[in-house]
Parts: sequence; C-alpha cells; structure tokens
Amino acid sequence: MPRKVILDVDPGIDDAVAVAMALFDPRLEVLAVTASGGNVAPEQATANLQALVGILDPPRLPRLGAAPTDTSWPAKPFNMHGADGLGGIDLPRARLHGGHASEKVIWETFHAHPREVTFVALAPLTNLSRVLARDPAIVEVVGEVVVAGGTAHGVGNATPAVDFNFYCDPQAARHVVREPMAKTLVPLDTTGHVTFGFDLLEQLPRESSRAGAILRAMLPHAFRAHRQLLGSEGISLHDVVALVAVTNPELFERSTVAADVETGGELTAGMLVVDRRTVRQWRPNLDLLTACDTAAVKDCILRGLAAAGAGT
Ligand code: RIB
Ligand code: CA
Repeated sequence: MPRKVILDVDPGIDDAVAVAMALFDPRLEVLAVTASGGNVAPEQATANLQALVGILDPPRLPRLGAAPTDTSWPAKPFNMHGADGLGGIDLPRARLHGGHASEKVIWETFHAHPREVTFVALAPLTNLSRVLARDPAIVEVVGEVVVAGGTAHGVGNATPAVDFNFYCDPQAARHVVREPMAKTLVPLDTTGHVTFGFDLLEQLPRESSRAGAILRAMLPHAFRAHRQLLGSEGISLHDVVALVAVTNPELFERSTVAADVETGGELTAGMLVVDRRTVRQWRPNLDLLTACDTAAVKDCILRGLAAAGAGT
C-alpha cells in the first residue's frame, strides 16, 4: 500500500525537487501539499506551489494548501533560492482548484485518514503548530511527523547553531517537538552530507519532460548560490534527503533522544538541544537520524528524479 503523506513546503528549490519526486513516486500517496512562508514570502510560496503542481500535472492531483499570510519571519541571513524562490525561473501562475488555508487542509486530511498520514515537514513548522494549537486532540489522529530541521551536533546554516526551518519559527519547532506523537528529525548535519556536483545537471530528466524542464531551469541557480554564498562547489538538497528518509528509512542511522528547542537568544533561538547527559533528565521524545548511506541516498534521488521525468 502506498504511504499516505502530506508535504509541507516553502518552495524553495529543494522543496520543489522533493515535491516533483514525491508526486511521481508509486510508494507515496501525496494527499496534500501545503505551503508555508520561509524561503520566500507566504504569498510567493503559495504561488510557487500552485504553479509547480499545475505544470507537473501528476496522475493524482493532491489537495493544495495556501500559506498563512499573518506570519512574521526573522530576517533571512541569506537567500539560496533566488527572488522568486525557484532560482529565478518565474513559473507562469496557475491558479488551481480551491485554495484553502494550509492548516485547514492539514486538519481535514489527518481526520480523513486517522493515524495513517505521515506529515513531511520541509519548511518552518508554523502550519503544524497552528493545527496543534487549534485542535490539541489532533495528536490522536496524526500518523507520524518527519521533519527536515534541527541540528544533531549544533552546526547550523541560518546561524552557527540553528537550521533555517527552526530559525524561522522557533516557537513552532518547540511546540511540535514537545507534542506526544511519533516524530523523526532529519537534521541539517545529516542532510548536509549528501551533496551533488555539477554532473547532476547531466543526470536530470530530459528537457522535453515537464519535470526535466523545471529541474534544468532551476538547479543551475542552486550551484551558483552555493558557490557565491557558501563557497561550496557542490549543492545540498536538504528537503530531498528528508523525503528519502520517508521512502528509504533503512538508509539512515536512527537514535531515540530527548530533545527540546531553544526559543530565546539572538544566536540560539531555534537551536535543537539534545540531553546527552550521562544521567539523562529529559524523557526521550523523538528519533534523530544521525547519519545516512550518502551514496545510496544519492542513488535514490537520481532514480526519483528519473521517475518524475518519465511521468511527465
Ligand atoms: O535548513 C534546511 C531548510 O532550509 C530546507 O527546508 C531548505 O528549504 C532551506 O530553506
Ligand atoms: Ca524547505
């Protein structure tokens, strides 16, 4: 049976790659894709998601959620994704059906499939936190939460100690981490070990496919941004690695830990704090994916991209 998922995204180049792969992965039933601000303003995130899914036109169209616009984000230290969030490709606007708020779509999807849905958080955790705040009992019908975020050993990207998703909304990250539901964190240290060189551009689906055209237009910006902003000749696709943690968990090392999220501090707000004391005082509350078979994960990603190309 395909695994039922909701993808929560702030597209963002790596979000967009993850969405393209998930929509054409026979192991996944993408019930909904919900937008959040983060990499880009909420309105842009919603527009990018609508345009992306409209162009990809998957066999099964997921419900789409519109990002909340009453959010305020801290200043972004840098922008890896271009002004439009997708590497400057300025996709034609496609207004798809509905346009319900992300938190409404999330709430309804969990209730329609109690305890069956995996929430794949590839963005700040604002949407999930709002659903939990509006209906705390929702934890009874959530299947599992898999989060691209946090740092296992404190090496961040938004600040030296904090990953971008937790940096954008530390309160939401703490709220989700503290909730009694099955949670798996795919931290930046782990996703950052999976990097691609320029040869990725020759391994993308053919230009004549809809997925290939988008990927080939978008990804060169990722290489430029990694070189100019991070001094790196390769690129990370953090959200895509987190998606592989959903489809291929056997490729990851997992440890159950007791953790919380700092919400104060100019340098530490959003930092994941793990209780590693000899005599742990905190109760274990989540699984942390501390390492992965990088070669096997890259192979999964290349195969997932090929499937998206073949399907479009
Ligand atoms: O820190 C990783 C996150 O930052 C990913 O979700 C990616 O989209 C970037 O915004
Ligand atoms: Ca993201």
